[in-house]
Amino acid sequence: MLDKLKDLEKEVLKMIGGVESVTGLETIRIKYLGRKGELTAFLRSLHKMAEPKRRTIGRKANELKKKIEKTIDDNKTLLQKGLIEGKVKEEWIDVTQSGTKRLLGHLYPVTQAIEEIRCIFESMGYEVVDGPEVEDDYHSFGALNILPEHPARDAWDTFYLTNGLLMRPHTSPVQIRTMKKRKPPLRFIVPGRVYRYEAEDATHLSVLHQLEGFAVDSNISFADLKGTLLSLMRSLFGKKTKLRFRPSFFPFTEPSAEVDVTCVVCGGKGCRSCGGDGWVELLGAGMIHHQVLRNVGYNPEKVSGFAFGIGLDRIAMIKYRIEDIRDLMKNDLRFLRQF
Ligand code: DAH
Repeated sequence: MLDKLKDLEKEVLKMIGGVESVTGLETIRIKYLGRKGELTAFLRSLHKMAEPKRRTIGRKANELKKKIEKTIDDNKTLLQKGLIEGKVKEEWIDVTQSGTKRLLGHLYPVTQAIEEIRCIFESMGYEVVDGPEVEDDYHSFGALNILPEHPARDAWDTFYLTNGLLMRPHTSPVQIRTMKKRKPPLRFIVPGRVYRYEAEDATHLSVLHQLEGFAVDSNISFADLKGTLLSLMRSLFGKKTKLRFRPSFFPFTEPSAEVDVTCVVCGGKGCRSCGGDGWVELLGAGMIHHQVLRNVGYNPEKVSGFAFGIGLDRIAMIKYRIEDIRDLMKNDLRFLRQF
């Protein structure tokens, strides 16, 4: 019997020594010490044995049981520690190492200009509206007093679609849509994309951005238009900026003007970027034509308004000193990252 126990001891310890996983050890424990385990069965069979043999063998068997339990537990602890150490080694991170820098993008230059202008107008109580880029003839021209036979139509080189609609060549149609929907007093700006059938060069694009603005109230005068535009341009380009109003013609305003600002590069002295003139043309403006007010159901005896349309790409070009407007459309990161 004692020999049998000795053999069992050897066998079990050898097995434990050869096992490299916690689950492997657990299998061994079950095999020998579990409810149906070999050593358990041996211990159970002891009662058949006669004293004093039973006592000696029983003690030896119990000692062996404890030894096996302890060895298994010790080895488990060692293995677990090894596992943890391995993990720690594997998953070690150097918290002092400098991180990889995340590339931060930024807004497109024209969007930056829109945001800046929007803030300025919001501070003057203006709301922002939007309108469709695919427009109809009535809102683009008719309601704006640009009649079909009028040669002024040629000024807007329009992309016509095959379904009778068109790509809006200016943001002015949104004046009509907004005035029809709302009642004065109105103060609105409309930033948006417009389309022109045009050969592109350093100063012309066929997809460009405009910002329409208009105010209608019981007593709006040309002085309000001047004051509003002067505040805008001074906020954008600095306190010394001056404006020049040149008489012009737009079918939807009377009187109409084209508005220039002093060149930001030379301050008005004349340089290469303003063509030696000292002035840069930025927008068209005027008092909303009585016929336009009537077209939207307003009474020109009671209300008056001003309107203007700014070329946003132009503003971005001046602000960021961009020489070729086409660069804005090339989507070249080397160019865009500068702003
Ligand atoms: N819509 C004009 C254009 O695209 C710009 C313009 C001029 C808008 C005068 C206005 C305005 O609202 O009053 O050329």
